[in-house]
Amino acid sequence: MTELEQYLHKIAGIAESTLDELLPKEDTYPASIHNLMRYSIFAGGKRIRPALVAASFEACGSAFPSENVLKVGAAIEMLHTFSLIHDDLPCMDDDDFRRGRPTAHKAFNEALAVLGGDALCIYAYEILANVGSIAVISEISRALGTNGMIGGQVVDIESEGKAVDKATVEYIHMNKTAALIRACIRCGALLANADSVTTEKLTNYGNLIGLAFQVVDDILDETATTEQLGKDAGSDRENGKATWVSVCGMDESRRYAVELIDKAKTEISFLGENGRMLAAIADFFFERVN
Ligand code: IPE
Ligand code: IPE
Ligand code: MG
Ligand code: MG
Ligand code: MG
Repeated sequence: MTELEQYLHKIAGIAESTLDELLPKEDTYPASIHNLMRYSIFAGGKRIRPALVAASFEACGSAFPSENVLKVGAAIEMLHTFSLIHDDLPCMDDDDFRRGRPTAHKAFNEALAVLGGDALCIYAYEILANVGSIAVISEISRALGTNGMIGGQVVDIESEGKAVDKATVEYIHMNKTAALIRACIRCGALLANADSVTTEKLTNYGNLIGLAFQVVDDILDETATTEQLGKDAGSDRENGKATWVSVCGMDESRRYAVELIDKAKTEISFLGENGRMLAAIADFFFERVN
């Protein structure tokens, strides 16, 4: 295993045991929804967002594990999973597989999938409230609202089947995906009390890798199989989605992703050895196969 693989493996393990402690048990009444929440959370998933919070915290010179970093990482993973459950619904992308299993609405039912997504969102905020940093709560809220993830999802849905320009795809990607990735990085910096210059450069890094992450997601939707992805390959084409690939083509998308990753690494080069893991994560965002 590379150093990054070891790191991601370690953080995924810690994130999963934190999630297990924080989520209501399966048999808690009403059991159906608690089953669904655990089904979607523990289906696997790369746990890249908790790793970003931890890596950013460490890059700012603070020692991990820290209780608050673990809780914020777990809360963000709940929020991300909520966004995936809703993204897969018939009224959204209408997908059948997620994280190697039938989607929540297929394995349970649509009403429960809507409520389970809502419940993961509400739980996440309860956990964040217990952490007690207003700055962290406000950061994550902005990343998820109509000027963030939800705004991006609205334009994604409203662009289906339309010829859109590059600026529109960039808006979609920056908001539906990069906003939460940037928030992970900024939360790590906030919890480490980083100075404003460091925070600004980390913010730029977060935006660049976040954008690259979604460009690569668009590429993989076309090039990978459902088995490899654990989610429906070819879903974007089927839905007439505005993606980087549909607007710019495959070669240009790959070139753009490499450019974004290079720029991201330049932004954090001032961190030197402390930024090693963040640089490796940036490379992984391009090289990943699922
Ligand atoms: C999928 O995110 C949704 C996008 C933002 C493209 P991930 O690729 O991080 O999904 P998991 O958490 O590993 O399942
Ligand atoms: C969704 O983007 C990003 C979210 C906010 C969930 P996609 O629709 O491309 O994500 P996948 O491909 O279904 O994971
Ligand atoms: Mg979608
Ligand atoms: Mg989708
Ligand atoms: Mg996708």
